[in-house]
Amino acid sequence: MPKIGILPSLLAADFGRLAEECRRAADAGADELHLDIMDGVFVRNISFGPEVVAMARRAAPELPRNVHLMVARPHEYVDAFADAGANTLLIHVEAPCDVAGTLRAIRARGVRAGLTLNPETPAALAAPYLRAGLVDEALCMTVHPGFGGQSFIAAALPNIRSLRAMASALDISVDGGIGDETAAACARAGANLFVAGTTLFRAPDMAAAVAALRASAEAARP
Ligand code: DX5
Ligand code: ZN
Repeated sequence: MPKIGILPSLLAADFGRLAEECRRAADAGADELHLDIMDGVFVRNISFGPEVVAMARRAAPELPRNVHLMVARPHEYVDAFADAGANTLLIHVEAPCDVAGTLRAIRARGVRAGLTLNPETPAALAAPYLRAGLVDEALCMTVHPGFGGQSFIAAALPNIRSLRAMASALDISVDGGIGDETAAACARAGANLFVAGTTLFRAPDMAAAVAALRASAEAARP
C-alpha cells in the first residue's frame, strides 16, 4: 500500500492570517496542504480561488498543494490552478464535464490528476478512469462536500474498499469528518491519505494532532 500522508484542509484555518496558517501546517509535519475550491454552483458554498493557492506556494513552498475542485466546470480552471502551483488537481466524477479529457488536461500541465467521489457515488463510476490509467489519486468523500466540520459518513467505507481492490498502488484519500477514530476506519478499508480541517487547524497543538492522526492511521492499516 502507498505511503500514509496527512493533509490539513485550509478551509478550517484562520482566514485573517492565511499565510501564517500555511506555515503552521508545514511546521507541524503535514505532508501536503489541501485547498477546497467551491464555486457556489457545484456545492452550496463559496470559498476561494487560485490566488489563495499561489499564496500557499509563497508561504510554504515545501508543502505540496492538493487542490480539490468543487466547481461545475473544472475543465475551464485547469490552467489557472496549474499556474497557481497546484501539485495535484482533483475533479469530481459527478461534475458535468468530459472527465477523461479533464484528467488528461491536468496531466498535460505536469500536475497529478485526482478523481473524487461523493459518499453515495458508486466506486464503479471511477473504474473506467482508473483502468485507463488516468488517475494518480482517488478521493473518497466521507461527508457531502461543501462545508467543513460535518460528521463522518461511514457508508462511504465500501467505496474505499472497492477502489483499493481495483488499484493496490493508487493513492486513496479521504476527506470530511476525519479524526483519529475515523482515520483508523478509513485506513483499515485501504485509504492512505487523510484530509482533516477541524481536527488539525482547530487543535491546540497542530504538530501533536498531525502525529496522532498519522499514528492512528499507521496502526490501523492492513
Ligand atoms: C468539505 C471539504 C473538506 C473540509 C473538511 O467539502 O472538501 O476538505 O475542509 O473539513 P473537516 O475535516 O472539518 O470535516
Ligand atoms: Zn476537500
